[in-house]
Amino acid sequence: MAPVRNTRVLFNEYAEGYPIPGKTLVVDKSETIDLEGAPLKNGQVLVKTIAISVDPYQRGRMSEPGKTTSGDAYELGKPLVNYVVVKVIRSENPDFAPGQHVYGMGDFSEYQILTDLSTWKVLPETRGTPWSAYVGVLGMPGQTAFYGWKEAAHAKKGETIYISTAAGAVGSMVVQIAKADGLKVIASAGTESKLQFLRELGADVVFNYKTTNVEDVLKEHGPIDIYWDNAGGKSLDAALANLNTFGRVVKIGSISSYNSKPEPIYNTETILWKRIIIRGVLVFDHHEQYLDEFYATFPPKVAKGEIKYVEHVVRSLDETPQLVLDQQKGNNTGKAVIVLADE
Ligand SMILES: NC(=O)c1ccc[n+]([C@@H]2O[C@H](COP(=O)([O-])OP(=O)(O)OC[C@H]3O[C@@H](n4cnc5c(N)ncnc54)[C@H](OP(=O)(O)O)[C@@H]3O)[C@@H](O)[C@H]2O)c1
Repeated sequence: MAPVRNTRVLFNEYAEGYPIPGKTLVVDKSETIDLEGAPLKNGQVLVKTIAISVDPYQRGRMSEPGKTTSGDAYELGKPLVNYVVVKVIRSENPDFAPGQHVYGMGDFSEYQILTDLSTWKVLPETRGTPWSAYVGVLGMPGQTAFYGWKEAAHAKKGETIYISTAAGAVGSMVVQIAKADGLKVIASAGTESKLQFLRELGADVVFNYKTTNVEDVLKEHGPIDIYWDNAGGKSLDAALANLNTFGRVVKIGSISSYNSKPEPIYNTETILWKRIIIRGVLVFDHHEQYLDEFYATFPPKVAKGEIKYVEHVVRSLDETPQLVLDQQKGNNTGKAVIVLADE
């Protein structure tokens, strides 16, 4: 069989402000790969990409070294890297067989040869759930919601929670977990269609943070016991002012400042007087503790439709640079994912 083209998305230039399609990220079609004849060393696996996750934290890795906020800077001229589901085509590794679907950190490319598979996981049969779900509701974002809830929310039935960026991959899971645990949910997002999704998930109060003052909503429908912070900035400041005594802030992200300077936080005195606990949770710290429980809990609920999710899908690597920008700007509705094949 003749070599085939191996389209890739390369990190081309450090970003200042929003990543610019065609500058920060470029699509490269110069590489080919021989799927049958490419030599594999002992332990290596040749895989085809099925689904690639696009996540907000990736913007932090597009800054110059020394200015990054979420891990090491991406390497210039190399493919972008993130969570992927791939299918094994050929294997020289006894733990990975052709036909298996595998989840891990891989390149934004159609095909790749994996060498270090120590952190890769063979996925179970999907019971009708698309493989793309394994980078979203059943992947890192779903795990973030599950782990953060167990680790830092300390929620009690009847309490009130405010969730920012609530219609996204992480937020929409937290809304559902909180409702299942009997909390009153106040949820914000940036478009009417996202607010509609939040209503369908059972959120009690929904509002558009772009057109409605966060503090006014929390004054009217609070006070709150928990603030799940995906956004930082004004939402965090308003939440601090409206937390009950012994309130908790689950600090998950700061999307409001990934592409610009952070907004100032004024309401810090309340942290002391109300004995508020602010706890940062990073998903990769907690796999050992919770991953088995997550895989035992979430996939069956997703398969039965008990956990709902929405995906924002593009079907080619050509559309990736725009998707990365769209997510940073809020033009995605649901989990941003590149699906290159269904099987
Ligand atoms: N701690 C961890 O381990 C961990 C793991 C995964 C994700 N995270 C964080 O969790 C947050 C949500 O991630 P996700 O994957 O669920 O992303 P997502 O919600 O699917 O996509 C990002 C969303 O951020 C919102 N946004 C953009 N600018 C904003 C602003 N200025 N203020 C408020 N919201 C803004 C947009 O929605 P709107 O239309 O609603 O504005 C956009 O759709 C991010 O901060 C991410 O970095 C943390």
